[in-house]
Amino acid sequence: MISAVHEDAFVASHGAPPLTVRKAAMRDVRPILRLINDYAALGLMLPRTEFELSEAIRDFTVVTSGRDLVGCGALHFYSPTLAEIRSLAVREQAKTHGVGRKLVEALLAEAEQYELDAVFAFTYVVEFFHKVGFQAVERGALPLKAWKDCLRCPKFQSCDEVAVLRILRPDHWVEALPEIWAPTPDDQLIPVPTPLLP
Ligand SMILES: CC(C)(COP(=O)(O)OP(=O)(O)OC[C@H]1O[C@@H](n2cnc3c(N)ncnc32)[C@H](O)[C@@H]1OP(=O)(O)O)[C@@H](O)C(=O)NCCC(=O)NCCS
Repeated sequence: MISAVHEDAFVASHGAPPLTVRKAAMRDVRPILRLINDYAALGLMLPRTEFELSEAIRDFTVVTSGRDLVGCGALHFYSPTLAEIRSLAVREQAKTHGVGRKLVEALLAEAEQYELDAVFAFTYVVEFFHKVGFQAVERGALPLKAWKDCLRCPKFQSCDEVAVLRILRPDHWVEALPEIWAPTPDDQLIPVPTPLLP
């Protein structure tokens, strides 16, 4: 088992209940936790606690097949114009069947509802994000407060994640740049991680 459901429970097209995309509920906390922390154990994601997930559950969208949770992702706001897609994970057995794309599309639709200008992510799966309309950007091009989670990451000093960005409202985005990048007093305390040279 990699998550809350049995390994053979997901069949892409034949026999499996249809996929449903919906906002997460509290009953999803434990399955989401298992999904994320299984990937965290492989060094692919940041681990989460039950407390953190309960606190942030309103950020989450999930994909289910019948009673099985097959994927999750969160939209986390950073400013009135910018949010991060994070905690994006699809069960091993459900990968490459469009679940990740459904999650990103739902999170982008949510971002548009909130009239955000852009959404970013830090990721190892750059090609996946290209496929769903993101572009790679300079890591330092994101506001420093976006790095706050990095402080507790074991890879903080040797981070090799790539920053990707999807601009939703190009006209607003350009106008908002000076405000977005203006550092706050807290930002000054957070050094931007720099990749180690090979
Ligand atoms: C990354 C992840 C969320 C993708 O989910 P998925 O359901 O497999 O993705 P989809 O099936 O929706 O794929 C959409 C497209 O991206 C491509 N794609 C998916 N994963 C890819 C990968 N690792 N490398 C290259 N392309 C990939 C698919 O082939 C598909 O392309 P197509 O539209 O041309 O057919 C999933 O692999 C996962 O959970 N990985 C482990 C956790 C992780 O790394 N999360 C990301 C944290 S930022």
